[in-house]
Amino acid sequence: MKPIIKTPEQVEKIRRAGEINTKVLDAVEEMIRAGISTENINQVVHKKTLELGGIPAPLNFEGFPKSVCTSLNDVVCHGIPSEDVILQDGDIINVDVTTIVDGYYGDASRMYCIGQVSPQARKLVDVTKECLELSLKAVRPGGYLNEIGAIIQEHAEKNGFSVVPDICGHGVGLDFHEEPLVFHVKRRGRGPKLEPGMIFTIEPMINAGSPDWFIDADDDWTVWTEDGSLSAQWEYTVLVTEDGYEILTK
Ligand code: MF3
Ligand code: CO
Ligand code: CO
Repeated sequence: MKPIIKTPEQVEKIRRAGEINTKVLDAVEEMIRAGISTENINQVVHKKTLELGGIPAPLNFEGFPKSVCTSLNDVVCHGIPSEDVILQDGDIINVDVTTIVDGYYGDASRMYCIGQVSPQARKLVDVTKECLELSLKAVRPGGYLNEIGAIIQEHAEKNGFSVVPDICGHGVGLDFHEEPLVFHVKRRGRGPKLEPGMIFTIEPMINAGSPDWFIDADDDWTVWTEDGSLSAQWEYTVLVTEDGYEILTK
């Protein structure tokens, strides 16, 4: 299916949603520390989003019960905030915020290191961000979507980590999840040709051990690493511009 090309008016609206989404992630950055619960993060995200004139997209999305995803240590993604999950010194956590502003969507996530984390955890967090940043050089008119995953996989594996192959980035902006799927691993074929006005997320999930994962049978959302190894993720919403890319969530 063809990726959607956004009009300049739509780009402007999505840029605004991205800016507010960034402010919400900044608010999380200010409060996150050992001793708080992931439900505390949910409350800050919910309150800050409304205060800035947005709506938290995760809340009630396909039955998701909270306003943000909080994915701790061996959770790959889609962790549900809970009063019972208390952040500890040494934890790594992904906070994934998606904001609807005036009907348009911005989607981004960051990793936070709580107190002193192990060198291995720090490396995983850093390499995952490098994977995302390096992949941006593939985002330009005339480039091909599948260059992104090839760059991510090469950098992750060079560092001894594995890429979750089957959870993808996505077109975003007019809706939460649109065409195209954005793979984070090398694929057969080049994929769609990139054109100015395309907007999609890149959101690699990188595991310290095996790339395998399973969905929690009790909550039907939380994605855990199969082997209990750590997992990290960073996400941007990016626009293909006339001469390259613009990160709409930075
Ligand atoms: N924000 C996630 C993404 O990057 C999707 C979360 S769906 C939810 O695509 F329902 F869990 F919020
Ligand atoms: Co997201
Ligand atoms: Co996303």
